[in-house]
Amino acid sequence: MTKLQDVFNIYKDYVMPTYTKQPLVFVKGKGSYLWDIQGNKYLDFFPGWGVCNLGHCHPKVMSAVKDQVIKLIFVPNNYYNLPQAKLAQELNHWTKYPFKAFFCNSGAEANEAAIKFSRKFGKGKYEIITFDDSFHGRTLAALAATGQAKYQQGFAPMPEGFKRVKFNDLLAVKSALTSKTAAIMLELIQGEGGINIASRGFILNLRQLCDDENILLIIDEVQTGIGRTGKMFAWQNYGIVPDIFTMAKALGGGLPIGAMMVKKDISDCLTPGTHASTFGGGPLVAKAAVAVLRSIQKEKILSNVQKMSEYLHGKLQELKNKYPVIKEVRGLGMMWGVELKQEGKIIVEQCIKQGLLINCTHDTVLRLMPALNIGKTEINKAIKILDNVLKDTGPAPSKRLNDLKADGFRAINKKEGAG
Ligand SMILES: Cc1ncc(COP(=O)(O)O)c(C=O)c1O
Repeated sequence: MTKLQDVFNIYKDYVMPTYTKQPLVFVKGKGSYLWDIQGNKYLDFFPGWGVCNLGHCHPKVMSAVKDQVIKLIFVPNNYYNLPQAKLAQELNHWTKYPFKAFFCNSGAEANEAAIKFSRKFGKGKYEIITFDDSFHGRTLAALAATGQAKYQQGFAPMPEGFKRVKFNDLLAVKSALTSKTAAIMLELIQGEGGINIASRGFILNLRQLCDDENILLIIDEVQTGIGRTGKMFAWQNYGIVPDIFTMAKALGGGLPIGAMMVKKDISDCLTPGTHASTFGGGPLVAKAAVAVLRSIQKEKILSNVQKMSEYLHGKLQELKNKYPVIKEVRGLGMMWGVELKQEGKIIVEQCIKQGLLINCTHDTVLRLMPALNIGKTEINKAIKILDNVLKDTGPAPSKRLNDLKADGFRAINKKEGAG
């Protein structure tokens, strides 16, 4: 068997180092658990970076893939394929409003499609208003839409036409409007931005503004979609229907798929030849996605999210009451942020050592996005580990961020350098 160090060496020699990596090599996953190459078991509270909403290797997804892989892996989009047709139909069952789908392979690609759609639809209007702390992907237009300068550094010039304003601020949006505005694009919960939740009033007002000004409302559901917030799509929590929404991550249950959904009555402005994606909605990934959506229904996943969300929230609040280092707990469904008064990286590292996988976003926000079929047993386990870690490693509240960087973090960063 390949040893841990051999894997690191191969990566060092042959894989581009574009990711900060944890020194872990996973070889098996089931439900909310992962096993590493040395046989250690981990409770995964950030499965697949938001991809594995049904946990790892969900049986229905596995059998859908097995069934399809021996029949037909791929046909291009100049032919019809059955799983893609079923997937588009299934998605419409969930939207409860007529939408047409464009299938692609990732979140960035789905957002690129939405940006292109807005320009075509706008007939000369091309500006898109986006928000501070947003994240829409790494391709150039999605990056230009992203409201975090750190991701854009070194890649100038950005494509034109994006105006960024403060999140949840209607006046800021209104003052950014021009006769060239084609669309407003946002996440309802900013995931990479630190779990910031759009207020209901703001979204209702945005919808009205878009209707009044004939502007498209684009919701990026790449992280919030497929049941994450307790509804199939996060916009269903707000009582609005967007003109366009985009998805990826959890849609394929681990296989790469993205989708742009456009309201049916405006969807035909992208005509044959105006946009394409070779692999988009191929039979194998589409079959997996249908299995994901049907499992969510059959296994009553959304009601589990609603129940367990309350339970997890309660437990996180208890931690907040116990540890002054926790500034705020916020989230919805199974998407939670625990904002610290210090950097969270060291907490993540210590959790890993105790067998719990979580994430830290925006430097100070611990992000918990467990599988949607999670139960109380796993939540209790995770909370116990977090409790231990906060007790053992939480520095005195007076310890400043810079002090932390100067000592503890340096050692960890060095160790992590393999990535
Ligand atoms: C809200 C949001 N949009 C877009 C993306 C980009 O998705 P992908 O990495 O599949 O291109 C992400 C990825 O984290 C995301 O969270």
